[in-house]
Amino acid sequence: MTTSNTTAEFAGKTALVTGGASGIGLEIARRLAEGGAAVVVADYNEQGAKEAVEAITAAGGRAAATILDVTDPESVRAAVDFAVETFGALHLAVNNAGVAGASAPTAEYPLDEWRRVIDTNLNGVFYGLRYELPRILASGGGAVVNMSSILGSNGFPGSAAYSAAKHAVVGLTKTAAVEYAAHGVRVNAVAPGFIDTPLLSNAQSQRDHLVSLHPQGRLGTAEEVAELTLFLLSDRASFVNGSYHLVDGGYAAR
Ligand code: NAI
Repeated sequence: MTTSNTTAEFAGKTALVTGGASGIGLEIARRLAEGGAAVVVADYNEQGAKEAVEAITAAGGRAAATILDVTDPESVRAAVDFAVETFGALHLAVNNAGVAGASAPTAEYPLDEWRRVIDTNLNGVFYGLRYELPRILASGGGAVVNMSSILGSNGFPGSAAYSAAKHAVVGLTKTAAVEYAAHGVRVNAVAPGFIDTPLLSNAQSQRDHLVSLHPQGRLGTAEEVAELTLFLLSDRASFVNGSYHLVDGGYAAR
């Protein structure tokens, strides 16, 4: 455990992180636990979720794993129930699970991939909000971060489904934010540029091109996305609500 000034910032809070077994979600889960939260790592990668929890508990944090498929509303409801049953409440949620999907021009985009990406990256976020919000309200309020993308505001060749889903997550975020703002729940979207995680494993041949799209001349790291996400989840962001927050090395500025 580190002793930064954010240590124990989340003491007494319970957090649910979907897609917490890998990449950005894993780093967010780790950092939340480091800040004192009890963290549920929810993922359809059971082994990865268990390993994440082992690492967090070995570092002195509190965490539990649950298997979750965000494309299945009943599975999402069960994961939210698990968080409350295990740790007694739910204050924070990060709807982060996502897939890259196929790369193909819109007119050739495979229909099954369209459905898989929309099911995961959009419907999964809706199901998350659907079941998290009542529990957060019942716990006295809190904050949610939905993982959008730079492709939540930009198009990208070959990524029709991904870009459509990530744009839609922004609308979902804004709507939930205005609905629940007066009830003590903030909802924000985080929009990473291209981040060096396993999600990009099929894009290695494009890596130099992707790097060139970022004025800072590199891809981002999961740590850099976690930093912004933790700020938005914290009381330091008490008046930040319903917004789309870039962490993109200047990608959108050019
Ligand atoms: P990753 O592939 O390292 O992690 C994604 C996690 O989501 C994995 O643990 C995977 O098992 C889980 N997951 C996927 N489908 C699931 C499902 N149906 N149910 C439950 N869990 C599921 O990817 P990364 O990069 O950490 O992505 C996290 C989020 O950040 C995603 O929403 C992604 O779209 C978004 N993002 C990533 C960027 C990147 O360049 N890596 C850029 C912008 C946004």
